[in-house]
Amino acid sequence: GNHILSVNQFDRDAIDKIFSVAASMQPYAKRQKRTTVLDGAILGNLFFEPSTRTRVSFGTAFNLLGGEVRETTGMQSSALAKGESLYDTARVLSGYSDIIAMRHPSAGSVSEFAEGSRVPVINGGDGANEHPTQALLDLFTIKRELEYNGKGVDGLHIAMIGDLRYGRTVHSLSKLLCLYKNIHFTLISPQELAMPDYIIDIIENAGHRLTITEQLEGNMDADICYQTRIQEERFPSQEEANKYRGRFRLNQAIYTRHFQSKTVIMHPLPRDSRMEANELDNDLNLNPNLAIFRQTDNGVLVRMALFALTLGVEDLVSKYERDVIW
Ligand code: CP
Repeated sequence: GNHILSVNQFDRDAIDKIFSVAASMQPYAKRQKRTTVLDGAILGNLFFEPSTRTRVSFGTAFNLLGGEVRETTGMQSSALAKGESLYDTARVLSGYSDIIAMRHPSAGSVSEFAEGSRVPVINGGDGANEHPTQALLDLFTIKRELEYNGKGVDGLHIAMIGDLRYGRTVHSLSKLLCLYKNIHFTLISPQELAMPDYIIDIIENAGHRLTITEQLEGNMDADICYQTRIQEERFPSQEEANKYRGRFRLNQAIYTRHFQSKTVIMHPLPRDSRMEANELDNDLNLNPNLAIFRQTDNGVLVRMALFALTLGVEDLVSKYERDVIW
């Protein structure tokens, strides 16, 4: 099927195409233009795990292309709670929609669902496994931010910080970055929350530079500082998760000590803003290099592009343009 399940399915040409379509979506996302290219199409937005931006930006992206959105949130409200299989659920729900976006707490579940689906399925995060659309919007953001600094992705130095074990966004992003040249990955986490070995193997086999450390040290020449949240919901117990809360705080003073004045600060969000965690302090909100809300805006562009390309309407978007009335 024409699914988006893992970043493994993309090469650099496919990424370039997605990003060029995403850039062309800007006037529609900014409401300077309207299009009804997906008039009559229905998105099944199935979120069996909490989400704010992925769920709402998938829905917004589909609406901005003129389509309708049906929402299902929470396992308890679906027949999965009665023991229905993901396969049967997919057979049924794919009869009600033209495309499905799905998030689920267990790794591999979205692929299992896709096997039963009669329409394309897009993975909005499956457990600690992958979050391919997040990785694409992160890479799109990295490209844009670096262009602003006069650089490209080849030769990039990225520092990834925090929960690299359970954080699926860093897994997908690392794999995508491996398609580029001479990337320097600095992975900063306690050993217990280290990047999985299979990702380390991919980085090393692709010949990239790898630095692994447990703490922020010295002044790094990183272009990107990619901070993460401790994924408490994936830990065996709350007690276990509590051990790592607050281990990787970042505020303006810490940023100034360890990073260059141009280092771009990213985070997939949500950031845990409770004082005991505080992984991105509000004092960074005034830092122009804080790209977190540019990431969330870019998420709409990238998801619009993925819908248009998956449904084969990328060349028809401007043909179905309408006036903006209000
Ligand atoms: N970045 C991200 O996946 O956020 P949500 O959990 O709010 O969708």
